[in-house]
Amino acid sequence: ETQTLTVSKLRCVHFGNYEIDTWFKSPYPPEYSNNYVLHVCEFCLRYFDSSFSLRRHRMKCPCFHHPPGTEIYRDGHLSVFEVDGRKNVVYCQNLCLFAKLFLNSKTLYYDVEPFMFYVLCENGGENSDSPSHHFVGYFSKEKLNGTNYNLSCIMTLPIYQRKGYGSFLIDFSYLLCRREFKLGTPEKPLSDLGLLSYRNYWKLSVARSIDSLVSKVGKDSLKRLSIDNLSNMTGMIHNDVIVGLEQLKALVYDPISEKYGLRLNLEAIDECLKNWKAKKYVEIKPELLIWKPVI
Ligand code: ACO
Ligand code: ZN
Repeated sequence: ETQTLTVSKLRCVHFGNYEIDTWFKSPYPPEYSNNYVLHVCEFCLRYFDSSFSLRRHRMKCPCFHHPPGTEIYRDGHLSVFEVDGRKNVVYCQNLCLFAKLFLNSKTLYYDVEPFMFYVLCENGGENSDSPSHHFVGYFSKEKLNGTNYNLSCIMTLPIYQRKGYGSFLIDFSYLLCRREFKLGTPEKPLSDLGLLSYRNYWKLSVARSIDSLVSKVGKDSLKRLSIDNLSNMTGMIHNDVIVGLEQLKALVYDPISEKYGLRLNLEAIDECLKNWKAKKYVEIKPELLIWKPVI
């Protein structure tokens, strides 16, 4: 019995004005894997085998200038759209297929209904009254779950990486979580890049909370500070707060009581915040989020 194996030749995606090298295989239908280049519509994420088909599609694309769903956040040149996996099944399936090109781990592709997708866009383009919203990255989140997971998959397109957008999306996922009065953590396992980004974020987020306490209530308030307080302020579970504190050299182990104690090093915290601010990455403005949790 002979079996025909289709080996994907796909190496790159044509997306908007870019050609982006792909990192991993994604289960696009085999007839789309015979070329080196896949042509993906940057707004609805449908895929085509030629730039001709993509151009023809653009004239009747259902998402002319932006993703489907609701725009729940806008700050000048950045927007976040909330897309419901139940209401926009095809978009979300295409998003998962597309994201898999940059994700090593197994992700879902077809069973998108239980998830919400949060798509970050850069706004710009010809007409400033109705600017194009260009896909930058996204994260997905399970709608109802018995676990603490507040993010299941995250991806920033390689052409937008190392500009602070991953941190913005992570911060956004915790902002949603705090609005739900919950503590959250990302679904495991994390990829290498996921772990690097999260470790950096946990450190930063703990540093920000401590800094804001000091400036609002003064240094004395730190004497009564607990991991529990930091969890509630950040929306992060205890374990992740601890990872943040460790990196700020704020945890000391007491071998007698066999417990960890907090010993804050305000200089390390200042240093961490100063370095981050110097990068001038975009920061979330919580008051711009227009969103209520689904109950
Ligand atoms: N090397 C070293 N440090 C890194 C790297 C890297 N490649 N990427 C992020 N970091 C750390 C750095 O401290 C960085 O700050 P700096 O750039 O100022 O040094 C910090 O994280 C923040 O980086 P961002 O610019 O905010 O993150 P980015 O937009 O690049 O997105 C992400 C990070 C989403 C993980 C991206 O690398 C990506 O999409 N990777 C492919 C998909 C993936 O692996 N996703 C995570 C899977 S796990 C999960 O989904 C639960
Ligand atoms: Zn389209």
